Amino acid sequence: MLESGQLVQGPLVERFEQAVAALLGRRHGVAVSSGTSALQLALKTLQVGPGDDVLCPALSWPSPAHAVRLAGAKVGFVDVDQGEWNSTAEALREARSGSSKAAIVIDQFGNPARAQEIGEALGSLPIIEDAACALGSRFATGPCGSFGLVSCLSFHPRKVLTTGEGGMCLTDDDDVADKLRTMRNHGQLGGEFVVAAGNARMTEIAAALGLAQLQRLDEILGRRRELAALYAKALDGVLDVQSTPEGAESNYQTFGVILPQGFARKTVCEKLDQKGVEAGVLSFAIHKLGSFAGSDASLPIAEHVAMRGLALPLYPQMRNAEVDEVVHALLGVLDE
Ligand SMILES: Cc1ncc(COP(=O)(O)O)c(C=O)c1O
Repeated sequence: MLESGQLVQGPLVERFEQAVAALLGRRHGVAVSSGTSALQLALKTLQVGPGDDVLCPALSWPSPAHAVRLAGAKVGFVDVDQGEWNSTAEALREARSGSSKAAIVIDQFGNPARAQEIGEALGSLPIIEDAACALGSRFATGPCGSFGLVSCLSFHPRKVLTTGEGGMCLTDDDDVADKLRTMRNHGQLGGEFVVAAGNARMTEIAAALGLAQLQRLDEILGRRRELAALYAKALDGVLDVQSTPEGAESNYQTFGVILPQGFARKTVCEKLDQKGVEAGVLSFAIHKLGSFAGSDASLPIAEHVAMRGLALPLYPQMRNAEVDEVVHALLGVLDE
């Protein structure tokens, strides 16, 4: 790579794009600098702008909603399902209005959304699948990252495969792919600047990291699933955890539990920390964040999960005995 003299957007990026696209059964992969820039470019491609509204689950890291805002459009927040923590087809259909230009569908924490039902419910409305957390997860009908006009991945260090920072847009549409490639590279097409756009390119170094981990992806996913199964078994009937639609498979990018009423998450985290367990906030009710101050939306399930959700440690190098230790520490704290 160093000998090629090409450190950005070179042959390794191209190989990485082709490998991820092949894995997800997509025609095109367009590597970018983060999952957030993937979402921003996807919205730009769909020409989302002022006067438009984009449906978006209210429970998430704020990137998708911020991307909609940055495009000048309004976020149509949609509540999530009590068990799966993703927005359902029914909720998305109900939230749709005449100004809806697109819908963002999130596979939250790697848990596959009900893609087929959502696709049927939304008909011709363009869908952006935010599969930032879901590389390696599967809908009942195919891989996460294969749904919608454009799907977006993140390779941030919290994800199952990381390039440091990084992301990718995937699509089967040749025209959309061309636009994405133009817009990630200062609006250049064939040496001409045809549109005002920024720089969202991926480096060769990042792509090399991604390619190396792709070779181990099955191993990484297998271990994550084993650990999640151990947690699920130990916590069954004790605490609520995320459920996965029948026939689908999560990559368990994040394993969360809902704390019972009466327990302050901050105190639980402090007590766990004293026992050597690092646990933290699971996610956010985006409509309640300062960046959306003034939103009067009431989306009770997103608010409940955001308020009571706790992310537990889960990483491929974790030992089975460490899962037992975390569960023991957590149940101990809840028993005090
Ligand atoms: C659902 C979702 N979308 C988008 C992103 C943004 O990805 P990145 O951190 O690569 O910008 C994240 C990050 O955690 C996410 O969880």
